[in-house]
Amino acid sequence: MTTTTIPGLEGQAPTDHAEMLAWVAEVAELTQPERVVFADGSDEEWDRLTTELVEHGTFVKLDESKKPNSFLAQSDPKDVARVESRTFICSETAEGAGPTNNWRDPAEMRGHMTELFRGSMRGRTMYVVPYCMGPLEAEDPKLGIELSDSAYVVVSMKIMTRMGTAALEKIGSDGEYVKGLHTVGAPLEPGQHDVPWPCNEEKYITHFPETREIWSFGSGYGGNALLGKKCFALRIASAMARDEGWMAEHMLILKLISPEDKVYFIAAAFPAACGKTNLAMLQPTIEGWRAEVVGDDIAWMRFGEDGRLFAVNPEYGFFGVAPGTNYSSNPNAMKTLEAGNSIYTNVALTDDGDVWWEDLEGTPDHLIDWLGNDWTPVGDGGAGNAAHPNSRYCVPINQCPVTAEEFNSPEGVPISAILFGGRRADTVPLVSEAHSWNHGVYIGATLSSGQTAAAEGKVGAVRRDPMAMLPFIGYNVGDYFQHWVDMGERGGDKMPKVFLVNWFRKGADGRFLWPGFGENSRVLKWVVDRIEGRVEADETVAGFTARAADIDLTGLDTPVKDVEEALAIDPEEWRRELPLITEWLDFCGPKVPSEVHEQFAALKERLG
Ligand code: GDP
Ligand code: PGA
Ligand code: MN
Repeated sequence: MTTTTIPGLEGQAPTDHAEMLAWVAEVAELTQPERVVFADGSDEEWDRLTTELVEHGTFVKLDESKKPNSFLAQSDPKDVARVESRTFICSETAEGAGPTNNWRDPAEMRGHMTELFRGSMRGRTMYVVPYCMGPLEAEDPKLGIELSDSAYVVVSMKIMTRMGTAALEKIGSDGEYVKGLHTVGAPLEPGQHDVPWPCNEEKYITHFPETREIWSFGSGYGGNALLGKKCFALRIASAMARDEGWMAEHMLILKLISPEDKVYFIAAAFPAACGKTNLAMLQPTIEGWRAEVVGDDIAWMRFGEDGRLFAVNPEYGFFGVAPGTNYSSNPNAMKTLEAGNSIYTNVALTDDGDVWWEDLEGTPDHLIDWLGNDWTPVGDGGAGNAAHPNSRYCVPINQCPVTAEEFNSPEGVPISAILFGGRRADTVPLVSEAHSWNHGVYIGATLSSGQTAAAEGKVGAVRRDPMAMLPFIGYNVGDYFQHWVDMGERGGDKMPKVFLVNWFRKGADGRFLWPGFGENSRVLKWVVDRIEGRVEADETVAGFTARAADIDLTGLDTPVKDVEEALAIDPEEWRRELPLITEWLDFCGPKVPSEVHEQFAALKERLG
């Protein structure tokens, strides 16, 4: 029996974890919520909270016959994406966070944020949300508790993680867990009318990697508020992974099955809004090939007993970009959504209680757009976006018709190939294979992509995004590259082959040269052919680049000359990158491993 009293908690806490109870009590005393509720993850809880969210005006319930048990939220227009400029890695030293992260002294940040949190939950309920990242049956399950004053967060965490009583039981009476503290930062005074999407102009997404803590203030948006996702499973987990000898990466995990029923697991790192979810749910367009999804955003990889690299998806749901998703680009996502049990954020509402977004089939004559305004199609869609470009769906993975049976496997799946990719209109060919693991590390370390709406910043501007992890590495980027080199040394010839892909190359007329989506299966087939040693490749400055003749183009409408152009390498364009890469590696600082510098030197030599 414990004597800790938690102010605002009715009845008995469902745990006897003394340290946890003391922490919950301490946070409740600081933030002063009206009530404290332990979330159990049950369907009854979901029904209760979603009903409350509808009554409150945060959620609109969608038509039951179209999207069963599904809801739409429109956020505050200023709270629509991750806020990288307000994201902090508060390691003990500035060097620990490295040049790519915002750093603040942890004691100073704690002091400052403690004052922000003081009274920040007044008039609200503080939920205690226990969750597990990855299967509960894992040998070393990674558990967390998020304290949040947002019911939207609780129901979203039920979709995105293994949330509730089972996770709390796993933590037990003295188990370890990652502490996450989240508030929308909008206390309510007595009698004050609440808004549908409370948040604060001032935002802080703060991580304390040494103590494995997350403090998030002022935002309700997914990547800022669902602390299991980017904050834990990438930023905190990357620091854990470095210490424990594994990898936490921003990668989808795909199961590809050949016509001969041979299975290949492929992981791919693309920056936010560059096609992970779409590739993860790929519907192959080539005869006899099948694909299934293990994960669409995050991969935790560790060595298996046989020395190969095995990947687990720590998540339980998809948090996907809605615009662009439709029955032809991603039929499996559409089927996943038809099954219901989803939360949509910042998409448009149709007059018959369904959702709509740009590029979804059948443009309605009238909508309520994501800002709550009437919307009608004008000319060529001149009325502006009905859905925000970073609007999202949140849906359980197990509803996907192509979920791989290995999704729940605690050991994970053996990875045969790692793809790096980004949005590059020029320079980067459709597909090349790295010469070696360390060449792959170099390719990842210097990966570049055009910015998207998934984070604040100028859309389209090309930036370096190492391993698609720029906003997610929880420590010094040079040490992170070193960790990649070290993992390669440990894994030796059992490491996956590394490839560089680019679905976004454009022709002189500005259109995409490669059709993408399901047709990307043709590129994956080439990757498998390389793994099996069945095809030759051109040795180029990029690595081993595919020849158009070796990519299966059967039944493809795209002219071969477009594919050739998508695969072409212009040494002039590559030379233009050199000063940018020099600048980038200088910026990354003295911890960048010599192996990366050697690969860069080799590239310069290849370019003459
Ligand atoms: P994620 O955030 O990395 O998971 O990216 P998504 O898979 O959600 O895709 C982000 C955006 O890129 C969406 O608008 C997609 O329609 C678009 N997209 C995804 N795959 C492709 C592709 O192969 N080709 C093209 N042109 N666009 C793509
Ligand atoms: P994603 O990230 O764009 O990689 O899916 C989700 C987020 O905004 O946190
Ligand atoms: Mn995604």
